[in-house]
Amino acid sequence: MSQDPAKTIHTLLEEKRSFPPPPEFTAQANASDPGIYDLAERDFEAWWAGWAEKLDWDRKWDRVLEWDPPRAKWFLGGRLNASVQCLDRHVAAGRGDRVAFHFEGEPGDTRTLTYADMLAGVCRVANGLKALGIGKGDRVTLYMPMVPELAMTVLACARIGAIFSVVFAGFSAVSLRDRIQDQGARLVVTADGCWRRGKVLDLKAVVDEALRGCDTVEKVLVWRRGEGVTTAGPGGPKDVEWSELVDPQPAECPPESMDAEDVLFILYTSGTTGKPKGIYHTHGGYLTGTYATSNLVFDLKPDRDVFWCTADIGWITGHSYIVFGPMANGVTQVMYEGAPNHPAPDRFWELVEKYRVSVFYTAPTAIRAFMKWGDEHPARHDLSSLRLLGTVGEPINPEAWVWYHERIGGGRCPIVDTWWQTETGMIMITPLPGITATVPGSATRPFPGVQARLFDDRGREVEGAGGGYLVLTRPWPAMLRGIWGDEARYEATYWSRFDGAYFPGDGAKRDAEGNYWILGRVDDVMNVSGHRLSTMEIESALVDHHAVAEAAVIGVHHELKGQAPVGFVILRSGFEPTPELNEEIRNHVAELIGGLARPEKVIFTPELPKTRSGKIMRRLLRDVAEGKALGDTTTLADPGVLAGLKAEYETKEG
Ligand code: PRX
Repeated sequence: MSQDPAKTIHTLLEEKRSFPPPPEFTAQANASDPGIYDLAERDFEAWWAGWAEKLDWDRKWDRVLEWDPPRAKWFLGGRLNASVQCLDRHVAAGRGDRVAFHFEGEPGDTRTLTYADMLAGVCRVANGLKALGIGKGDRVTLYMPMVPELAMTVLACARIGAIFSVVFAGFSAVSLRDRIQDQGARLVVTADGCWRRGKVLDLKAVVDEALRGCDTVEKVLVWRRGEGVTTAGPGGPKDVEWSELVDPQPAECPPESMDAEDVLFILYTSGTTGKPKGIYHTHGGYLTGTYATSNLVFDLKPDRDVFWCTADIGWITGHSYIVFGPMANGVTQVMYEGAPNHPAPDRFWELVEKYRVSVFYTAPTAIRAFMKWGDEHPARHDLSSLRLLGTVGEPINPEAWVWYHERIGGGRCPIVDTWWQTETGMIMITPLPGITATVPGSATRPFPGVQARLFDDRGREVEGAGGGYLVLTRPWPAMLRGIWGDEARYEATYWSRFDGAYFPGDGAKRDAEGNYWILGRVDDVMNVSGHRLSTMEIESALVDHHAVAEAAVIGVHHELKGQAPVGFVILRSGFEPTPELNEEIRNHVAELIGGLARPEKVIFTPELPKTRSGKIMRRLLRDVAEGKALGDTTTLADPGVLAGLKAEYETKEG
């Protein structure tokens, strides 16, 4: 299929539904033999051990796997350090001059950091952390912009065995405080500010506010962004200037030898309750899983590829596919600080052209935005360096897939639609670009060694083509080891729905060819622009507002974001349903959780549809919001409530 601007994406979609791997791609691919699946299947422990052997271990493991469901331990007795895999071994092999990051700030400032530069930087930060008394097992919270110092701090913590926890810099002070308290952090690392869509975000102010009530935090290390960011004067008694502490440190720091099962990091993600879960991952298995998947899924060639994953390091995608996987592979990457449409909607394509990006990984929500902004933006740039494209975070609609394939990939680049989660740590269902025939909208097959199944409501396996709950029926090295401080929740959330199987919370179907199609969450979690949000968390934020008596939240279909939160709110008596109050309540949610949780709409209603036992029927609210015929209403305590709601919703729409 060649690039033909005259053809609409729709006609292209109708013409072709399956895209075999281009022979020239297969000829050079890291994985080109379909036999790799059988090989991994025959002995999955040996398969993963083969990948682990490609890392540098201080001490080799005694045993590959101990599986005592639902607890797995990988590479028992093995010792290594994650930062060594990402830095020292490349430098030691004479590849210190290879660029690790081409950094581009939003205002246009640039920096080039080689692997040797990164190693020196990481050692300085590590020595700085040690000077502050931080050591093995201590928790360090990072609230930083997308700059190389964030990657450095992550790797510096790994180097000294401190457990790091990155909080995405769009989260509010309240969310940041909850996370700091949950993990009992001793140190917070932040920046004075950063650039986003032409504006300075004052990160330090958020940290200062978050710190009220965080008794465990002893120091706040502040890196200064420069480039016109002038917020956050030195101030608090706990503040330490990066330039004073880190810069003068020696550029060598011996790595701590970590047990394969020592905790590497904690990353919070939303669940079905109001409290986010602190998912934790360990050194040996996580490194092995992200190293292997980066190598095979992104087909990385360290001597010639330029990889760009557009995620923020604050999410799992940035942990696994900016820091650990690609760096363990020793590849060159692009890191960009700001918004994709600043100063113009072609900023990404300008960067692809400038740095000759060859492998590009982004989210469907971004692709839909690019489509909306217009074909002329990518068309203005030379994108011929691209050879492979990827997506992650939510189901990709076939129109967006084909647009990406044609307008960005020039019809020649395979697309890897990768399904995975914060909890899985690594890509789990995905094409292998030199082997798999891709189908727009399908993540295709489990990665070699991974076992996925579909179960029905009663836990019976669905064979062949069909739909059901997606489950993972075999441990994998990068799997989460638990939820920080709440081991019971680990078992209850993931392992209690189906006996002996991990339940990720997604529904899926499988076609006659064996391809998996992820249908989305089947629990009270929504996916907004590829980010997980909990219905309960937003509901708690709504009722936290003094005017709100009761609230129900649902995720409704949204053209760009995939889903968007909509709140149905009952006001306390004495409050008038004014547009100003509506706005105030929506902002309140953003202040409590972060901008991404701000409801798209808030609908004031005198009542909510409930069952006779008082349970809110969100399914019916969704039908109302999406203008669908109402589903079964026979269990409603008061069917009249819905008619009122529908009328209210339609006036809002009009
Ligand atoms: O619902 C699935 C969706 O994102 C959820 C995981 O979210 P999070 O832990 O924030 O990680 C996102 C980045 C790995 C999944 O349960 N999801 C992720 N990737 C895909 C997807 N849904 C469909 N297709 C995907 N490729």
